[in-house]
Amino acid sequence: MVMSASQELEKAATNYALEAVRLDKQGSRGMAITLYQKAIESLLKLVQLYPEYNLNKVYIQRAMAYQERIKILQGGLPIQPEEIGERPPSQTPDATPPSDGKKASYDELVTKEKPDVKWAEVVGLETAKKAIKEAIVYPVQRPDLFPLGWPRGILLYGPPGCGKTLIAAAVATEIDAAFMSVDAASIMSKWLGEGERNVAKLFDTARKNVDNGKPAIIFVDELDSLMGRHSSEVGGEVRVRNQFLKEMDGVLEKGKKIHIYVIGATNRPWDLDWPFIRRFQKRILVPLPDYHARLQMFKLYTSNLELASDVDLNELGRLSGGFSGSDIRDVCQSAHLKVIGEFFESGQANNKKAKPRALSMKDFLQILEDRKPSVSVEMLTSYTKWAEAFKAL
Ligand SMILES: Nc1ncnc2c1ncn2[C@@H]1O[C@H](COP(=O)(O)OP(=O)(O)O)[C@@H](O)[C@H]1O
Ligand SMILES: [Mg+2]
Repeated sequence: MVMSASQELEKAATNYALEAVRLDKQGSRGMAITLYQKAIESLLKLVQLYPEYNLNKVYIQRAMAYQERIKILQGGLPIQPEEIGERPPSQTPDATPPSDGKKASYDELVTKEKPDVKWAEVVGLETAKKAIKEAIVYPVQRPDLFPLGWPRGILLYGPPGCGKTLIAAAVATEIDAAFMSVDAASIMSKWLGEGERNVAKLFDTARKNVDNGKPAIIFVDELDSLMGRHSSEVGGEVRVRNQFLKEMDGVLEKGKKIHIYVIGATNRPWDLDWPFIRRFQKRILVPLPDYHARLQMFKLYTSNLELASDVDLNELGRLSGGFSGSDIRDVCQSAHLKVIGEFFESGQANNKKAKPRALSMKDFLQILEDRKPSVSVEMLTSYTKWAEAFKAL
């Protein structure tokens, strides 16, 4: 099979990085730096060539990790013996620079604070809200009413910026449960080779919470990053993925007794393979907002702004077909910032009593003219197709 340009670059990056790590461990600083540099170049080329590519975040973070390592090597600090120690032979080699204490810790990447998002702040999405209430909120309130059990794995999928993360946050606020949130792209990049262990720790922590009598929700954002379905393993992806699937099985198996829920969110459901998909028994589409929802969003995001009388929110709702919730928030923010910017530039801000003018319809129209919906029509078709094949509501 002929390798694609991206596969070739990816392979090159991995090879450079593996070699760099090997030399680094041997103490050949100069050579290691050169090869880390080459790995970074390949990764950045990959990012430039394919700006849409879903692994870009991982690539960039990895490039940054190599850059950090170069800095340390250039700093000429003595290399600690444990830094150059070999990994246990049972582990497949991965392109992780030797530990320098800068690796993101488990606690840095798993958020335990409850986000303060109310259901009312999630505009529209009635079907998705209902589905998630039936799947999580009600069983947690009255488990005695669900003798046949209920789903533990819930997948939220759909175009970016339409409220997947928001819904997960609202669920966490709504029910009295321990909430742990983690971004899968960070698991892959920032836990550099420790992903497997930290995934185990994530589920362990959830089980401990449940032992204390509280349900636990694990929210994995950008779930598709766990797939590691690429030609080469940049950072032990296969092991992380298998650990995750194993932990999911534990949750599903003991489901009747243990209140652990896993909510996964993805913009790219088609990147998930069947072993992943089937463990999320409930799959909920979070679609683009319709006219009514867009109008509500314009109302929500302008509620704290001063609007001139000519601003017609209904018209803005009509003009923003195809926009996501996040696009609409950006439009309101940009229109506001434009007015504030003018205010400062005119020098009026020096007068403490002066106030910026109200936002006019023209401000909004100018911003809308320059903006395109961030979700393409082809992408929308892909969601519909995927939903037809895999939806489970
Ligand atoms: N349905 C919605 N209701 C209100 N705000 C929304 C909605 N969808 C998106 N937004 C706005 O866009 C931001 C990004 O949405 P997010 O939930 O992160 O999207 P996703 O996770 O689907 O990519 C939110 O923080 C919110 O400000
Ligand atoms: Mg999100």
